[in-house]
Formats: sequence, structure tokens, C-alpha cells
Amino acid sequence: MILLSIETSCDETSICIVKRARGKNVRFEVLSHKILSQVDLHRQYGGVFPSLAKREHARTITQLIAEALDEADLLVERSYEYHLSMSHKNKLEKLLHREPDMRSALTILFEGIQKPSIDAIAVTKGPGLEPALWVGINCALALKTVWDIPVYPINHMEGHIMTGLLNFNKEDNIYELSTPEFPATALLVSGGHTELVKIPKLGSYKIIGNTRDDAVGEAFDKVARLLGLPYPGGPEISNLANKARTERLIVDEHLVLPRPMIHSKDLNMSFSGLKTSVLVKVKAQKNVDEKFKKKIAVEFENSVTDVLTAKTKQAIYETGSQTLIVGGGVSANDHLRTKLKELANTDDFDLFIPDKKLAGDNALMIACVGLFQIANDKKPKDKIIANGSWSIEES
Ligand code: KG4
Ligand code: ZN
Repeated sequence: MILLSIETSCDETSICIVKRARGKNVRFEVLSHKILSQVDLHRQYGGVFPSLAKREHARTITQLIAEALDEADLLVERSYEYHLSMSHKNKLEKLLHREPDMRSALTILFEGIQKPSIDAIAVTKGPGLEPALWVGINCALALKTVWDIPVYPINHMEGHIMTGLLNFNKEDNIYELSTPEFPATALLVSGGHTELVKIPKLGSYKIIGNTRDDAVGEAFDKVARLLGLPYPGGPEISNLANKARTERLIVDEHLVLPRPMIHSKDLNMSFSGLKTSVLVKVKAQKNVDEKFKKKIAVEFENSVTDVLTAKTKQAIYETGSQTLIVGGGVSANDHLRTKLKELANTDDFDLFIPDKKLAGDNALMIACVGLFQIANDKKPKDKIIANGSWSIEES
């Protein structure tokens, strides 16, 4: 069974082709995994610009699919002239009337290559930027139209959870989904989400904690911007904070930041006040030099990590979990990883955290959920509507 997955929820266009391996569990070989980042384009705006993201996805996705098929050894060019039927042309025109360039590119692909041996397609339906999500969905439905392949709509956040559970076996080149003890708790930390999720069993999710305002990744990005650092701010802040720790810089008393909601009884969080506190300190600072930036970066990272670990500890306790699964772009953060590992040791639970390379958005995570759904007899969909705020509880 070969599955092709598509991820276009934010500023990464990604295609992955996986081949399911034998065994009861979800096990697979990655035949190709392509991630095309738009970061350089969005940097000038200091964040992701949705209509630009959509345009870029539409411009690049077909070529990326062709490259992925080629790398997976599934691309066979036609040796004769071939034209799509009128019926296919009409369907594509209707489906892709908002993406004429993608329609032209896909038509060239369909007419130039033979139907590849792909058995299923998985595509991100949400959450994310709706214009961007539509590109992936419409592309998937176009492939379904012409190649007659079933399409599975996937929740992006479930993808982040499953990535945390992936084990890579170098010897046989196989990824395998771990089977942890349930109930589990997931900590999801990305550019759009900060959630604590109770997982009675894989595939079933209940949100038990949430941010009231900014997501933690968003806070990293905004604080970075206040310090004049480029987008995306997470890695920039993390870099400066690591330097501050190596140099053992002491954070002056007037630069200490709050730990918002750390003592609230619930599992909710808030990060927008933290960003305002940084703004106040930046404004009061005459000389925003490298040393000041390092101090703010390390104090901000410490504050966020203190809050996240405290809330996670409480969630683990309240849910009676043996397992913590971490996911989302911010799970690449070194300090957060260290502190969560320490917590797992002291509080004696199993920690599953993604390989740093797979922490950010990618199509491998969408493929993994797709295979999980197929293994659990979920049905594909004929019609898929992008949902920018699709909750993991509804997936
Ligand atoms: O999951 P993701 O790639 O995209 C969304 O689904 O939002 O997360 C992106 C977020 C960005 O806000 C980025 O600044 C943050 O993850 N991020 C980090 C690090 N690497 C990426 N935040 C803190 N430390 C990092 N090392
Ligand atoms: Zn994400």
C-alpha cells in the first residue's frame, strides 16, 4: 500500500510518499519527503502573509509532486501523446477555477505521465490558513478526479501528535508508531496552537487546556520581532537564549518577566501579556544591544518553559497519564525539551517527543495519520472543506 500526503496549512508546501510495511502496527518506509519552505518570502512581512502563502503553494505544488514521484520511483513518462478527456477537463476546471495556474500545471502532469501506483491520498483539512489549506485540498481532489484515488482529510494537530510517537529504525529504514500506555497527555505547541490534550486512546482527543490568547510559537515570533530579529522568531530566540546560558549571563532584576497564569487552578495559559511585558522593557531600554537581547531571550524562554512544564505536570496528574506526547514547531526548542525530560524523570512518566527535524510542519506527519486511519477502517471522503479552526476533538 502506497500513500501520498499533502501538507499546505501554513508556509511549508510538503509532499510525502510512504509505503506501508508488514505488521499489525502502523509501520512504513518513506519513499520521498519534500518540504519547500516559504520562509524567505514571508520574512519581509515579519510573519506569514496568507494570500502570498496560497499563491506560492499553488505555484510550486505540482512540481513538488512530480519530484516526489520521481524520487519514489513512481514516475513513468508517457511515450505517446495523450490528452485528458473532456469530462476530466471540465471537472478540473470547476474544481480549480480559483487556481488556474495549478490547473495548467496539473494538466501537463496528467497528460505527461502515467497514473502512478498510489493507493491513497491524505491531505491536511485544518486547522491552518484557509486559503493555503484549499490549495492542498483542491490539488488532492484533482488527483482523485483523474487518477481515481481515495482521499483522506487529516487534522494537522493530530499529525503533530503522531510525529511525537514515531520511532525510526535505521537498520530496516522503517518508521513505526509507538504504542504507549493510555490515557496519555499531549502538549501541542505551535505557531497557531498551545493545547493540552487528554488521549484515552489514539484517535480520540479531549482538549483540557488551552491558551486564552496568543499561541506560544506566536509569542516567540512576536518577541523576536520586538528585538529586531527575523521571522520565524522561535529559533532566533532559542539561539540567543542558549548563548546567554553558555555565557552564564545574569538577568538583571528589572528585566525579570512574569510567569502568566502559572498559579491558576486550571490548565489554561496566556502568552500575550508576556509579549507586552517585553515591549515595555524594550521601550525602557536605551541601548537594545546584543547583551540585552540575550537576557530578554533567556528570560522569555525560561518564563514560557516554566509555565508549559507546570501546566503539563498538572495535566499529567489530573488525567492520571503514564505518557506525555509533545508536538508542534516549538517542540524543537532545546530548553523546553531539556525541562520536559527532567520532568519525565522526576515524575516518572514516558516522554515521546519528535525528532527535531520533524517538529515543524511536514507531510510525513500527515501520511502517518492517513495510514493510521486506513488501519482503523476510517472511510475516505469525496468532498472536503478546508476548516481553518478545525478542532482535534472533531477530527
Ligand atoms: O508547527 P509549526 O511548524 O507550524 C504551525 O503549525 O504553526 O510551528 C511553527 C512555530 C513558529 O512560531 C516558530 O517560531 C516556532 O514554531 N519554532 C520554535 C522553534 N522552532 C520553531 N519556537 C521555539 N524554539 C524553536 N527552536
Ligand atoms: Zn504545525
